[in-house]
Amino acid sequence: MEAHPPPVQMVQLLSGFQVSQALYAAAKIGVADRLAEGPQPVEQLADDLDCDHLALARLLRTLASLGVFTEIEPETYGLTPLGETLVSDKEGSMRDLALMWMETHYAPFAGLLGTVRSGKCAATEHYDQPFFSWLASQPDQVSRFSRAMANLTGGIKVGAIGSYAFPQSGTMIDVGGADGALLAKVLETAPNATGIVFDLPHVIADAEPALKGYGRGDRIAAVGGDLFEAVPRGDVYLLSMVLHDWNDSDATRLLTSIGRGGATGSRVIALELVMPTGDEPHMSKMIDLTMLGMLNGRERTDAEMRTLFEGAGLLYDGIVPTPTPFSVVEARIP
Ligand SMILES: C[S@@+](CC[C@H](N)C(=O)[O-])C[C@H]1O[C@@H](n2cnc3c(N)ncnc32)[C@H](O)[C@@H]1O
Repeated sequence: MEAHPPPVQMVQLLSGFQVSQALYAAAKIGVADRLAEGPQPVEQLADDLDCDHLALARLLRTLASLGVFTEIEPETYGLTPLGETLVSDKEGSMRDLALMWMETHYAPFAGLLGTVRSGKCAATEHYDQPFFSWLASQPDQVSRFSRAMANLTGGIKVGAIGSYAFPQSGTMIDVGGADGALLAKVLETAPNATGIVFDLPHVIADAEPALKGYGRGDRIAAVGGDLFEAVPRGDVYLLSMVLHDWNDSDATRLLTSIGRGGATGSRVIALELVMPTGDEPHMSKMIDLTMLGMLNGRERTDAEMRTLFEGAGLLYDGIVPTPTPFSVVEARIP
């Protein structure tokens, strides 16, 4: 099929704000959860989900044109594989990410223009404090944030974990590990290792039910604290999507804190969206913008990772690509 002319392509790009809101509405209402039971006429869906029939029909028609649902007969919709990612509590679900992004990221992103002009983080301006401090005052969003991170583990990072040879023994410290979803998956591949999920105290307090659900309770301990102050002692430090939350000076501080906490020879293994050079499409490009608007953080190239790790006094070993957009960044404590 021929590409649309540039003005048409631009209108499609500009309507991204509507796509995000349409996906959010469908996720929040629970459309995909209902369609997971089988195709449904819109009128029935509207009754069951307490929606306006005509408005819901227009929402589903738009999302079907984007491949999220499929109209199997007039005004009757079913799920596509893409739409299945909006079903709750299912391997590969992105529903919590859809809810979290739209409830905590969408509004601050209206300030991106200001961030580009001033360099000041849009979310810090919007919430009058850094995003993670604001989150601490929102118990519902703390759980949602950890579940959204678990979505990314179950849907994407699991493919990265499966392709990488993690150390098979010792104690792994998952620094900034949220509810332990990633650590639980890593420990599946290393039956003789134990782990500690380490995160802010309120995140750890909230993580208990999820950790029980992951079923590795006997091998995972949970510890609350501040990664800039001290991290528990271990043999392997995991950092997943943590370095990208911070600017270079904070990321150096946190790696220095790990260097202080671990013994000589301890490994540091980071899962990050290492930024490719050039303008090829890559998930790191859009998430880099998320980090700019929300956290003052950034995605980094391999060369920038090396500079960061060496600047914190660690021995940089390089990156190992995975079949997913994530790479494994390897380093050691000297
Ligand atoms: C982007 S999330 C990544 C979560 C998890 N590693 C994953 O990949 O699913 C960053 C995590 O860092 C935690 N965090 C932020 N500031 C922290 C601090 N000062 N000390 C410990 N953890 C912190 C957050 O609570 C959050 O769980």
